[in-house]
Amino acid sequence: MSIIDLPLLPLGKGRDLGTERGVECPGDLPSASDPTLVERARVAKEALGERLFVLGHHYQRDEVIQFADVTGDSFKLARDAAGRPAAEFIVFCGVHFMAESADILTAPEQKVILPDLAAGCSMADMARLAQVEDAWDALVDAGVAQDVVPVTYMNSSADIKAFCGRNGGVVCTSSNADAALEWAFAQKPDAPGGGKVLFFPDQHLGRNTAVLKMGLSLDDCVVWDPRQPNGGLSVEQLRDARMILWRGHCSVHGRFSADVIDELRAKDPDISILVHPECTHDVVLKADLVGSTEFIIKTIEAAPAGSSWAIGTELNLVKRLSQDHPDLSISFLDRNVCYCSTMNRIDLPHLVWALESLVDGVVVNQIEVDPDTERDAKVALERMLSLPGKSHRD
Ligand code: 13P
Ligand code: SF4
Repeated sequence: MSIIDLPLLPLGKGRDLGTERGVECPGDLPSASDPTLVERARVAKEALGERLFVLGHHYQRDEVIQFADVTGDSFKLARDAAGRPAAEFIVFCGVHFMAESADILTAPEQKVILPDLAAGCSMADMARLAQVEDAWDALVDAGVAQDVVPVTYMNSSADIKAFCGRNGGVVCTSSNADAALEWAFAQKPDAPGGGKVLFFPDQHLGRNTAVLKMGLSLDDCVVWDPRQPNGGLSVEQLRDARMILWRGHCSVHGRFSADVIDELRAKDPDISILVHPECTHDVVLKADLVGSTEFIIKTIEAAPAGSSWAIGTELNLVKRLSQDHPDLSISFLDRNVCYCSTMNRIDLPHLVWALESLVDGVVVNQIEVDPDTERDAKVALERMLSLPGKSHRD
């Protein structure tokens, strides 16, 4: 199979791509209509006590988030995962790449569990190791690889993070992408023009950070299309670029559009537009505030009563913010309902199934990164965790 034909992996990696792994649970997956599910989750959690640590990303459903010991954005959860060394089981209510990072950052004897293995991320699947290695070879051929630092967004598989670890690169999240880029450019002080970054898989986070936080121009950015020969770029374009952005995007945040912002502002000139940096550049340019999910929450918590907001991020979070802040007017930035379908895979039946299995002494859906990948990915993750600056702290 050529890399051009690599399929997306909405159902996770493995040999059984034809089946919905995580849905075909061994044992009984409780029915979604079972009225005792909440009580069953509570009882199982109580039975596991300190042996269990449940992490929940802000995009998780309410029915799941109520059982999280800690909630957070990708950065906070990566940091918090290692914060309970006594917990035998870490149940990760989020998506696959987050559970992999938790496995890398926790002790070998701790077991990380993803309640539904089909909870992947379409953006993470847009950069595959073979494609990234191909791009790197092209940079070598163009004579620029020695000036390039690879930076991968947290939303990538462990083998991509390992690639960055092996090649002097770093991981970033939406809350520290500026610190990561600053670090990356500082690694190449003698490179002509100040060095380059190969940023994947989210072109929008890369572009928004480079242009709005690092003072680069749109002309400094080129887009590497992994489905085109040589990324669709000439050697000259690669030599001139400062930011080589991978052609990847988030299917949820890619939906928000600048014309909806215009419409909302026409109706309510006092409305504030708050968006995630995975949104397209034109949306981010029109927004009032931009930041990670943790930033979005803190901004709303600090908002004056009576103020009105339109928020461009995943709908579970926007709905929760709207429910928790009845004194504010909060609307969703898209015209249509749009959840992250893979985040939504983690539902109460899967959580109950995972917890009750643990109570019965059966570890299901364990996420285990192989030791070589783990070693190299940890280098890139730890570089991220030690980045200087305030922007990635709470
Ligand atoms: P953060 O958690 O960094 O805000 O990222 C959002 C996201 O898309 C996670 O998949
Ligand atoms: Fe991936 Fe986007 Fe879903 Fe986050 S919101 S998990 S980036 S598809």
